[in-house]
Amino acid sequence: MRKPFVAGNWKMNTDGHTGTNLAEAIASATVEVAGQSVDVAVCPPFVYLQAVAGVLSASHIALGAQDVYIESKGAFTGEIGASMLKDVGCAYVLCGHSERRHVIGEPDELINKKVAAAISGGLLPILCVGELIEERQASRTEEVVTRQMKNGLAGLSAEKVSAVTIAYEPVWAIGTGLTATPQQAQQMHALVRKLLAQTYDGQLAEGIRILYGGSVKPGSAADLMRQKDIDGLLVGGASLNADDFVAIIKAAV
Ligand code: 13P
Repeated sequence: MRKPFVAGNWKMNTDGHTGTNLAEAIASATVEVAGQSVDVAVCPPFVYLQAVAGVLSASHIALGAQDVYIESKGAFTGEIGASMLKDVGCAYVLCGHSERRHVIGEPDELINKKVAAAISGGLLPILCVGELIEERQASRTEEVVTRQMKNGLAGLSAEKVSAVTIAYEPVWAIGTGLTATPQQAQQMHALVRKLLAQTYDGQLAEGIRILYGGSVKPGSAADLMRQKDIDGLLVGGASLNADDFVAIIKAAV
């Protein structure tokens, strides 16, 4: 009942030319599945959103941004608001990606405001959660993800939370070539769904998509997708190669 969802996070990669070429190649190779048997989104850097939107306008691939500011407009030099992202064609936005948490230093409280701002602005947030390797080694994985979920969704009504997608991305698996095993990922996805059921209700929890991210490759996608609570994939490095990303999309159908 949950349609699979594969999103590509381009991070700070591509340029205008390679980004539009990449989007075009993905769109033309997924005409028969995108938006039908699998939802697909790409998240280019802000400055290429509009160009990529142009390429994707005739496709069923959605556009996402990698971040959003907590206010809708005003004197916030360098920031981008939800209405601007809507204006250039975004449907989704990543909130609390591990690189924003751990490289830029975003705390849970700021991420929570970003999720709320995204929903108020008509975007569908993808809230990213996941533990550091030290936290896993100290058996704190569940505690960390529980905290990130609770704080990230704090104060949001069930109706608002139904607009959210969760991405479980263990930080130690991002960009390292170390994928969580399907069993490790499933265990955390089940925890995320249980938390949603406890905080809201079982029906809402069953309807929310939970993506796995962290070194997903064409060879690992199908096994991950076979897990009961893995509803899709958030792909970094492999989403920059059209053949690899298309293979991942097809493995998720
Ligand atoms: P990689 O697929 O490169 O590990 O990145 C995952 C990620 O951070 C997606 O948001």
